Amino acid sequence: MASARTPVLLDCDPGHDDAVAILLALAAPSIDLLGITTTFGNCSVEDATRNALRVLALAGRGDIQVAVGAAAPLAGEAALGNYVHGVSGLDGPELPEPLSTPVDQSALQFQVDLLESAHSPVTIVATGPMTNIGLLLTQRPDLISKVDEVIFMGGSTSRGNHTPTAEFNTHSDPEALDVVLTSGVPVRMVGLNLTHQALATPEVVQRMSAMEHRVGQVCAEWMGFFGDSYQRLWEFDAPPVHDPCTVAALIEPALIEWREAFVAVELEGRWTRGTTVVDLYQRYPEMDPNAFVAMTLDATAYWDLVLQSLDTLGGAA
Ligand code: BDR
Ligand code: CA
Repeated sequence: MASARTPVLLDCDPGHDDAVAILLALAAPSIDLLGITTTFGNCSVEDATRNALRVLALAGRGDIQVAVGAAAPLAGEAALGNYVHGVSGLDGPELPEPLSTPVDQSALQFQVDLLESAHSPVTIVATGPMTNIGLLLTQRPDLISKVDEVIFMGGSTSRGNHTPTAEFNTHSDPEALDVVLTSGVPVRMVGLNLTHQALATPEVVQRMSAMEHRVGQVCAEWMGFFGDSYQRLWEFDAPPVHDPCTVAALIEPALIEWREAFVAVELEGRWTRGTTVVDLYQRYPEMDPNAFVAMTLDATAYWDLVLQSLDTLGGAA
């Protein structure tokens, strides 16, 4: 009998908001989290892997397999996001030690084995630089039919954050994103224009603090660290919690309104490398839409979902 759960492979660089995305995926009855692959991004891939394992330990889930992915982008050198997420990539509260070690194969081989053996197409959720997915689709284009969609946090229909025009994840590996956008695989983009609607306001953080378990306390402290970074760097009063928007879209599709559009990523620009170019108004009529772009978030329903999920997970951990 076919399962109603969505099989998900989560590719991430935890990271405070990646960490919440992991917890949300673990909590969701409708998601079957098949494994986690890690990448450089917010920190080195070694730190991202350790952080992923510690987040899993926080949830008491040593059973989820983690595979180590890319240490650097397809072209150029890695520029890390420690300036946002701290020395460890996940600074703030003390976390438990990992309950398990990474699997003894690369993220690429892990992805390949998982897709080859999958009974139904797998959803790839990407919340860091797109390197691991770019490598997969370049080396094994035959497996595209086994991918239901790639839903990624990255890019923007408007401004950037890492540079004035480019968002951090898309700036980190534009060549890999270009592979994904031109591969023919179904793509959904959750950019800054959407995630800046997902603000962890004082009321949201208070609801985390009020939870009577470690998961709630830790999430509240993460928001404190992340919020300080956003205040210092971008003058935000509350931090946008980007990455869980991707997972939330899978759990409750009605949370987000989408627009079909042609999306490209700038590979050359002197000032604009890594910027997503989103043709919302069909100014390039010769270019067919290749993605669905997240436009509007029901922020109240988003936070209700995230907070209820964290509370259920933390209560059971
Ligand atoms: C993205 O970059 C990282 O700082 C976050 O984890 C998120 O994936 C936001 O631009
Ligand atoms: Ca991330």
